[in-house]
Amino acid sequence: MNEMIEQLKEALQISPNNLPLRLHLADVLLKENELSEASEQFSEILRRQNGNIKALTGLSEVYFRQQKYSAAIILFEQLQHDGALTFDAKIKFIRCLLKEHSVGQAKELYMQVLREQPNFRDTDIDAVLRATGNEAGADPDMLLEELSQPGNKYFMEKPSMKFADVGGMKQLKNEISLKIIQPLKNPAMYKAFGKKIGGGILMYGPPGCGKTFIAKATAGEIDAKFISLGLHDILDMWVGSSEKNLHEVFQAARKNTPCVLFIDEVDALGASRSDMRQSAMRQIINQFLAELDGVKDTNEGVLILAATNAPWSVDSAFRRPGRFDRVIFVAPPDEEGRKDILLSVLKDKPAENIDAGQIAKLTQGYSGADLKAIIDIATEFKLEESLNKGVLQPITQKDITKAIKEHRATTGEWFATARNYALYANETGLYNEILQYLNIKK
Ligand SMILES: Nc1ncnc2c1ncn2[C@@H]1O[C@H](COP(=O)(O)OP(=O)(O)OP(=O)(O)O)[C@@H](O)[C@H]1O
Ligand SMILES: [Mg+2]
Repeated sequence: MNEMIEQLKEALQISPNNLPLRLHLADVLLKENELSEASEQFSEILRRQNGNIKALTGLSEVYFRQQKYSAAIILFEQLQHDGALTFDAKIKFIRCLLKEHSVGQAKELYMQVLREQPNFRDTDIDAVLRATGNEAGADPDMLLEELSQPGNKYFMEKPSMKFADVGGMKQLKNEISLKIIQPLKNPAMYKAFGKKIGGGILMYGPPGCGKTFIAKATAGEIDAKFISLGLHDILDMWVGSSEKNLHEVFQAARKNTPCVLFIDEVDALGASRSDMRQSAMRQIINQFLAELDGVKDTNEGVLILAATNAPWSVDSAFRRPGRFDRVIFVAPPDEEGRKDILLSVLKDKPAENIDAGQIAKLTQGYSGADLKAIIDIATEFKLEESLNKGVLQPITQKDITKAIKEHRATTGEWFATARNYALYANETGLYNEILQYLNIKK
């Protein structure tokens, strides 16, 4: 085999422009698992012929095997765009997306795969995207059916990410641990101190600052399942039968303990909403409260976290003791948090001499999602350069500072609104944390 590789290389020296020959060499190298050499050859082909499908496919396979998932994703996306994803590449694409926690995109693609080949099974992917949640009784056809429902009402997964993957947020991690993780782990201890178990945490704040992210990590942290429920979706779909379906989602969580039930957009259940009759909305709210209180069925083992961007629209009944009795402001990350986030986002990427502290200084007001966007932009610069040069170019400090200029912080708009509520509608002191954050003394 080695001999064959040598011969191919010799032949290439004589006719370096022979792309099919180079492609053949690259394929042989890949087959022999000579990843870095294969990478060089595929990149060289791309340098000579931008967008060569076979080379893109080969290079994506190399990156996949080298566990460079985010780089592989960029190539898969290009192939997808060109309509050139093979079945095998789709499966690998899904795996990369799951590694990078892009569950929504992974789910969409998996549904496409299952439509193409209804009998296809991948236990690893099923384990993460499984909709029934019940390992022994998981019915693969259920999975397809469940996932394919237009805007399916809830989505269950088993996240692998942990608190350590979440940058910063020390205080919030602490609160979640004390309020909902420890009671689950040490119920006797809490009972001994006469502390009632139950209730949830309501997180609020500007978009992209990690509310959903930390909810998912909470599930990963305790090896629990994770159900995410966007209330807006429910209301759009379920007018008339919302109560019944709300009950179903809570039952799904109760049947799959331990389970983190993440309720997003709780502001959707606002009695003042005009797009639904008041009395109908009141009934849904009452049903929701009954589920939260565990009136008919116990919520033991169900950890409830909720989030909103508009806490001022959340029904005040939700905040009574035993319900969302902890309301926490999830601020944009501070300098130390930003540094942590950067380090965690850069963890699996080729990067060189990055001074994360310096970048953190330059990104006041940036959300976690903004920081991730910056690194994505820098990655794109680098990938393009790598493909052109034929060798992997690590991300440098300069790329990131350049990327910062291309992506501005997105949290300002939210604060413009929040500030007014904090100044003029803060009777209960609910928004003191916002005032504190904005450095406003009242
Ligand atoms: N603390 C963090 N550590 C690492 N990454 C983070 C952190 N915060 C946010 N991110 C990144 O930003 C993305 C967006 O965060 P997330 O979806 O949790 O925000 P959110 O607060 O739920 O926003 P929204 O209000 O729009 O729902 C995450 O998927 C993650 O990639
Ligand atoms: Mg969110």
